Amino acid sequence: MVELLPSILSADFAHLADQIAAAQRGGGSAIHVDVMDGHFVPNMTIGPPVVASLRKVTGLPLDCHLMIDNPNDYIAAFAEAGANWVSVHYEACPHLHRTLEMIIHHGMKPGVVLNPATRVDLIVEILPMVHHVLIMSVNPGWGGQEFIPFSLDKVRQLKEMRRALGLKFKIEIDGGVAHDTVAAIVKAGAELLVAGNAVFGAGQPERDARALLDAARKAAGERAASKRTGGKSKIH
Ligand code: DX5
Ligand code: ZN
Repeated sequence: MVELLPSILSADFAHLADQIAAAQRGGGSAIHVDVMDGHFVPNMTIGPPVVASLRKVTGLPLDCHLMIDNPNDYIAAFAEAGANWVSVHYEACPHLHRTLEMIIHHGMKPGVVLNPATRVDLIVEILPMVHHVLIMSVNPGWGGQEFIPFSLDKVRQLKEMRRALGLKFKIEIDGGVAHDTVAAIVKAGAELLVAGNAVFGAGQPERDARALLDAARKAAGERAASKRTGGKSKIH
């Protein structure tokens, strides 16, 4: 099943509670929180205090995407703040297995994120530990960037690895998910769709979340139908 995770990076930060409520009415089922430190990525955003405030205004899972160096130093703080899912970058974690264990130990669901240039097969050993794998389809740092097409191949590869290993983790995608890209993304196999600009960019998060989710579900329906007919209908 496809899910929409609105990314508050493109929301109006002065009205986060209202913006999140609107995105939820539009069908958002978890809130994606982009944490940037000005080191791992050039931009800076928010940290545990804002997550603690969000926790008070929404019951949706908070999906915290840590684009930070030394994430181990902050895992306890995110748990304390009420984060539900925490994903760390493969590229920021020299001891990734230990970092994932820490996230689990703090009662949160762990995810691993891969930058566009990072190969999917590098994480095969830790796949049994994760709740989700996040494929970055832009270089992390900003919202509103253009979708990188080869990300679709990475989603397909990951899906095949999951099948071969008999695992159940979810495949998340982040960056450039919008009306013109969402069908191909869903047909490639992504299930958790992060979208910032496409949901919040026009100032109509309820309407735009709903439209994007509708398009995603339509693509999922087409994919399922094509499976039933043995792939004879035209999808890619
Ligand atoms: C980018 C962030 C994304 C960002 C996506 O570094 O990780 O979550 O909000 O923005 P859009 O959907 O606008 O590409
Ligand atoms: Zn993100």
